[in-house]
Amino acid sequence: MSEDQSATPLRLGVLISGSGTNLQAIIDAIGRRELKAEIRLVISNRAGAYGLERARQAGIRTLVIDHRGFPSREAYDSQMLAELKAAEAELVILAGFMRLLSSVMIRAFPNRIMNIHPALLPSFPGLHVQKAAVEHGVRFSGCTVFFVTEGVDDGPIIIQAVVPVYPDDSEDALAARILAQEHRIFSRAIALFQEGRLEVSGRRVLVKGLEASATAPVLINPPLSS
Ligand code: GRF
Repeated sequence: MSEDQSATPLRLGVLISGSGTNLQAIIDAIGRRELKAEIRLVISNRAGAYGLERARQAGIRTLVIDHRGFPSREAYDSQMLAELKAAEAELVILAGFMRLLSSVMIRAFPNRIMNIHPALLPSFPGLHVQKAAVEHGVRFSGCTVFFVTEGVDDGPIIIQAVVPVYPDDSEDALAARILAQEHRIFSRAIALFQEGRLEVSGRRVLVKGLEASATAPVLINPPLSS
């Protein structure tokens, strides 16, 4: 990507199903100019999703496409695809979109659909993963932003955040701790894309231009000292 392109706001299409706190975090990152992007369209498959209200308050165009009106996943995705293309979206963001995408969408946007998952993939793919992490007794969990492929929660990993899991954690406590980090890393992943710094190589994502010193600390839980 040339310097000129990276100076251009990235056109986003955002898909939601629920409260839209990740959408809000992206709107806020754009507002703070940490992310050079423009949300062209927010699509929800549920009319009551509060994320729609967040989008409206930010002056973003919204659309409800109820999946129940379509005979197949492919038919639904074709409709969504037509809207995203009409909105000239360059990158599609799944911000709590609770539906699997078919190959119709994935082939139309290869390595151009990002999702966020509230666990450290490849551990705990699927649903109810915060509960599963607490019950399994893992010492750390977190969240993962990845490029969507045809496998469920299986695509190339862009960025992860790690949070500790404490012995007395409830599912909700862990979910809240993870969500706070989701709000930080999603817009960062989008910014790296906008800056042309993500290169997919097989199942790995290479992040160009990382400083040698930009390494994360080792985490141990419970700490060695206690
Ligand atoms: C988040 O936990 C995200 O990881 C998952 O769905 C939830 C969406 O929350 N994919 P919100 O709608 O962004 O508040």
